[in-house]
Parts: sequence; C-alpha cells; structure tokens
Amino acid sequence: MNYEQLIHEFKAKFSSEEARLFFAPGRINLIGEHTDYNGGNVFPCAITYGTYAVAKKRDDYLVRLYSVNFPNKNMIEFNLNDLDYKEKDGWANYPKGMLRYIRERGDDLTGMDVLFYGNIPNAAGLSSSASIELLTGVVIEKLNQLSIDRLELVKIGMRVENEFIGVKSGIMDQFAVGMGKKEEGILLDCQTLDYHYAPLKLGSKKVLIMNTNKRRELAASKYNERRNECEQALKQIQTAIDVLALGELSEEDFEQIKHTIKNPTVLKRAKHAVYENQRTIQALQALKNDDLSRFGELMNDSHTSLKEDYEVTGFELDTLVETAWKQDGVLGARMTGAGFGGCAIAIVEEKCVDNFIENVGTRYKEKVGYEADFYIASIGDGARELEMEVRI
Ligand code: GLA
Repeated sequence: MNYEQLIHEFKAKFSSEEARLFFAPGRINLIGEHTDYNGGNVFPCAITYGTYAVAKKRDDYLVRLYSVNFPNKNMIEFNLNDLDYKEKDGWANYPKGMLRYIRERGDDLTGMDVLFYGNIPNAAGLSSSASIELLTGVVIEKLNQLSIDRLELVKIGMRVENEFIGVKSGIMDQFAVGMGKKEEGILLDCQTLDYHYAPLKLGSKKVLIMNTNKRRELAASKYNERRNECEQALKQIQTAIDVLALGELSEEDFEQIKHTIKNPTVLKRAKHAVYENQRTIQALQALKNDDLSRFGELMNDSHTSLKEDYEVTGFELDTLVETAWKQDGVLGARMTGAGFGGCAIAIVEEKCVDNFIENVGTRYKEKVGYEADFYIASIGDGARELEMEVRI
C-alpha cells in the first residue's frame, strides 16, 4: 500500500477532508536477548518496515479505529471516558491502552479517527505491538499538541504491554521503536537506561530477516515463565551477593555464586542472562573495532545459548539458523526477539544473498514442510509524523 492508497482508504472509511500521516517502525535485536528484564544490555535497531497511521482529530470524545490489516473486522469505536481493556476489541487494545495512560497524566484529550496499516508480519517477533503503541502515542501527542518526552512515551508503551495487555516484557522493543535512528544500532543498559547509538558499518554486508512463519502459540505464557525463573535465580543469588539484577554480574561473579541456585533449569536460565549480557558488551566493542567476524561469532554463541540454556528457539528457528551458519558469506546468525517461532537474522555478504535465500529456503521447506520468508532489513528512524500535509 502506498500513501495515496492509505489516504484513499481513510477517506472512504471516515469521509474526511484532511488527515495527517504517521509512522512507527518495527525492530530487530542484533544481540542481547532476554537480557532487558534482567537489567542487562540490549543492542536493537529500528527497521523500515513498520506501521502507518492516517489520523484526524475530532471535536468530541469518540475514538474510531480501523485497521487495513483486518478488513473483515469492523471499525472499533469507544469513548474516551471508557478506556477499559476489552477482549473483543483485539488489536485496538494497544491504542486504547496508550490513550488511557496518556490521559492519566492529566492531559485533556479529544477523540480521533485513525486508520492503521502495518507491513511488519504479525506475531513474527519484530515488535508489531510496540510499533502500534508508539505510533498511537505520537498520533495522540501531535493531534492534541502535547509535548511528551520521548522516553516517557517509551515507558508508557511498556506499561501498556505490562499492565493493560498483561505481557511482562522488558523495555527493549518500545525503546528501539521510539528512539531508533537510521543506520544506527542502540546499545541500551536496561538497568540505568543509559544508551548510545553505534553506527552499523556493515560495508558490503546485509542484515537478512528470516521469518519462520510459525505462529507463536503460548509465547506470552512461556515468556512470563522465563521471567519468573530469572526472578527466582536472582533471589537465590542475592543470599550470597548484593546485586539488584542478574545483569550486574560478570561471568566470574556468576561462576562463584552459582551454587546458590539449586534448580538446574533455573541455573541454566540465569547463566544465559549473565553470559548474554557480557556477549552484548563484547559485540559492541567488536563493532567499534570493525571486527565483524567477531560480532558474527558472538551472534552464533547467542543463538546456541538461547537454544540450550534459555530454551526459547525450537525446531523452526534452529533449522533456519543452523542452515544459515553453513552458507557461504555468512558472518553470523541468530534468532531475534522473544523466540518460540518468529524471526531470525543473519549478516550475509551482499553477493551471496541470492544463493543464501535459495539454499536456506529450500532446506527449510524440506525439513519444516512450509516456506520461510526472507527480507533485507534497512535500519531506519523511530516513531514520527511524516512531514507531509495530506489534503484529500
Ligand atoms: C520480547 C520482549 C522484549 C525482550 C525480548 C527478548 O521482544 O518484548 O522486552 O524481552 O522479547 O529479548
């Protein structure tokens, strides 16, 4: 869908004379998986796939939302005075949650008409939900002429996920979607929220996204289970060392006090959290030293740890990643996001990309029985209004 088609759809649905256009990206995470809620480091970036909104302010308190991605579902309507979670509203609970928590800041909002369209595959682990959250946040901010600090908007997005939707995710996705910068990765310390941008100097290499196309059933409950296991590990470790998060531990600290964790599963989870955090710090250093092959090795080690210790990969992701490792011109490959299906990424020499897709795609279909999808990722900017006055 191009801008004109989106605007045409908006006009058809809402019979309006003017509208404004907004965009929020999806994200990939290069390394640092399941470290954010453990107070560790992550290294994500925003991509140019994402979600668009065409929006117009109303003079009353009505909110009308429509998604081009779900054409069989009707327009969803609610009043700003009734912002409770309702299962029947499905995807519209994300924008509703944003409205609710922004309103709770004391801002006087009016209603709005919004048409959404996303080109990130749904439930593929590329943060389509954080994309809708931050997108709605910017729409509300701009239509109501507010000025909301971007970090605050990021935190509101996370709160929607945690409290309104009920997924106990960390801050990585909303941060990457809200703060992303073209051609840059973001190294974020999730304990202190200190961050800095690091240019992705990939030269002749491309980042490929590989989608397993596996539906992520039960992903939310398994995600919350991992989080609980890490909390248990932290409590036991705290009997021996004074830390607030697993992310504060070096590998050496961990080896010395790991005997405090009695349950072998919990021990594996904690080991991943500690070692993955250290890998992330090393990966940034490798990037700064232009040592992309070291960066790739760390990506591979990350996947192995997510497979063996954190146990969030599964047959489909392992098939993609392990086949990717065997191809010419591959520096590294790993799953990205929460896991349990969804996407993996690989860094591949540009001249080898076609063969890579052919070989990995064929092997995947043989082993798994259905197709994987491949996209070249471009690293883009975070959530924003697209600077064009759209007159219909
Ligand atoms: C999901 C969550 C993030 C993060 C990743 C795993 O994407 O939303 O907060 O925990 O999983 O790294």
